[in-house]
Amino acid sequence: MEQDSVRTYRLRGSRITGPQQSALDKYWGLYGIEYSYDFLDIPSLFPTSQQVILEIGFGMGEATALLGRDFPETGYLAVEVHKPGIGKLMARIEELALSNIRIIEGDAHPIIKTMIPDASVHGVHLFFPDPWPKKRHHKRRIVNEEFLKLIHAKIKDGGFFHIATDWVPYAEQIQEVLAASPLFTGGVIERPEWRPLTRFEGQGITKDHQVNDLRYFKV
Ligand SMILES: C[S@@+](CC[C@H](N)C(=O)[O-])C[C@H]1O[C@@H](n2cnc3c(N)ncnc32)[C@H](O)[C@@H]1O
Repeated sequence: MEQDSVRTYRLRGSRITGPQQSALDKYWGLYGIEYSYDFLDIPSLFPTSQQVILEIGFGMGEATALLGRDFPETGYLAVEVHKPGIGKLMARIEELALSNIRIIEGDAHPIIKTMIPDASVHGVHLFFPDPWPKKRHHKRRIVNEEFLKLIHAKIKDGGFFHIATDWVPYAEQIQEVLAASPLFTGGVIERPEWRPLTRFEGQGITKDHQVNDLRYFKV
């Protein structure tokens, strides 16, 4: 896979547990999608779905699995670089007997560019993107003008971009980048009930982190 953009994720050793590896071995063929230079045929991946949402950086897939369960008529195309998380989500898909989640392994930038057709998804979920708090790392934050251009093209008319973050300075930067963009309109909203409360978010709340939900619509 080409890597022509700044790396927005942390390189972690992929210490994968036995159950995660065995879920990967057993279910990759059912739920996994290999990186390729061809556009996906999204309707054929989700033949019964009324809408398809692209999720970027699902981590361990906790929210993805619960959304898949709660919204069986929505298809979730979920992207992550971290192999243990992919194994974990595959195990959860099996446990909950879900048929509306497919997973692409790798960096979202080249994946979105080369695999997602224009105007093919109803929305994009970005839940708790790596905050990169140090100033010298701000360039690694995934939300920037270039990223907005990239996802804007892939979202259908009237579609949305939903971000949740527990890092207030990042929420502020996101608002600035989006306010300067003619491509989206929107802003901070109340925490929506449909967004599952994950362990990650719970830990942030315990540390008194304020969580912001931001929802923007394609102009
Ligand atoms: C802080 S974690 C949050 C995970 C999850 N969304 C949650 O709410 O628990 C951010 C995740 O985004 C993933 N990530 C960051 N940049 C990415 C990229 N360019 N492509 C795919 N995944 C990415 C990281 O590997 C990490 O798992």
